[in-house]
Amino acid sequence: MVQVNDNFLKLKAGYLFPEIARRVNAFCEANPDAASRVIKLGIGDVTEPLPPAIVEAIHKATDELAERGSFRGYGPEQGYDFLRNAICDNDYKARGCDVSADEIFVSDGSKCDSGNILDIFGSNNTVAITDPVYPVYVDTNVMTGRTGEADDDGRYAGLVYIPVTAENDFSPALPEGKVDLIYLCYPNNPTGTVASKETLKQWVDYAKANDSIILYDAAYEAFITDPEIPHSIYEIEGARDVAIEFRSFSKNAGFTGTRCAFTVVPKSLKGTTPGGETVDIHPLWNRRHCTKFNGVSYPIQRGAAAAYSEAGKQQIGELVSFYMENARLLREGLTKVGIQVYGGVNAPYVWLKTPGGATSWDFFDTLLEKGNLVGTPGSGFGAAGEGYFRLSAFNSRANVEEAVERFTQSLG
Ligand code: MLT
Repeated sequence: MVQVNDNFLKLKAGYLFPEIARRVNAFCEANPDAASRVIKLGIGDVTEPLPPAIVEAIHKATDELAERGSFRGYGPEQGYDFLRNAICDNDYKARGCDVSADEIFVSDGSKCDSGNILDIFGSNNTVAITDPVYPVYVDTNVMTGRTGEADDDGRYAGLVYIPVTAENDFSPALPEGKVDLIYLCYPNNPTGTVASKETLKQWVDYAKANDSIILYDAAYEAFITDPEIPHSIYEIEGARDVAIEFRSFSKNAGFTGTRCAFTVVPKSLKGTTPGGETVDIHPLWNRRHCTKFNGVSYPIQRGAAAAYSEAGKQQIGELVSFYMENARLLREGLTKVGIQVYGGVNAPYVWLKTPGGATSWDFFDTLLEKGNLVGTPGSGFGAAGEGYFRLSAFNSRANVEEAVERFTQSLG
């Protein structure tokens, strides 16, 4: 028989969100009367329709494909220039970041890219992650054989875990020794906390001193409300020599279903061969991208570009404010019933301490049974997330208001 990649057998249980869905389905089957009352604040999936400027651009581009004269087949794997230029001007040049359009690779998701990026790095690099963390970073390292087995707490041998908890004010300490690859995510999923310029500078300085590369996931940057908080790691001097950045249209522009994202790989970023010869990273990612990916569809790239039109910016701003108002309602509602909450000010996630010292999964069950509410257990994001719980602000206003009401009834 054909041998499987047995690294997959090291993975703990299912991927977090399908596992939650499985438990919710089981609850609904066992409690059919409660099924229609269930409100899901678990996965961070958008609920509001695409902004009109984006829909219009997608329609128009689709019509172009219906005509022989304007039909297009394969596009450039890296993305059309109209989108790469719009990203470069609006997300980087406007913020004073030294990024050029040909360093931007348009893709179908920052989840995919944050996993795929491992293709271009040697498997004996030391990898550091914060804990709790977006599970994709860990699982893709496991799948590609970069770890040993997991211990009872779910921590894999070989990974360097950096705890981020209330005790250290959700500010991960710099690693004590040298690590090669460092995953950072700000605004943070799952804790909803942010990193200041000073904090990011410390990481950039660490990476420079240790020849490390930071894999910076900024998928939630649009939700930053504090003008002092950096939106891109390239706002930090020297970062283009040590960081790759992942960005997405999923959460700000509502593209979780339509799919469009991008990754920035600066041309000044270097790595090394096993023999110690210096190698440019950009051509490696370009090679990987062109070999394994055929580009995002033309109408969707036109839709993404419309996010940068005047109308698109305004409509996205309204969408972001809508979700952030949900976050405020959740934070305030929980605080009123005596629950300690974090995040939710510059990020669409509210991170809370489970009341009475309950484990994350026990609290999940209590909320589901008493309030028919679904959230994400903090322990699903890592051992240091035990005793915490995440609520997503991506929902309709009516559902959020109803959820706050039920929190009051169930926990007040
Ligand atoms: C989450 O809930 O953490 C996100 O939806 C995950 C993702 O964007 O892949």
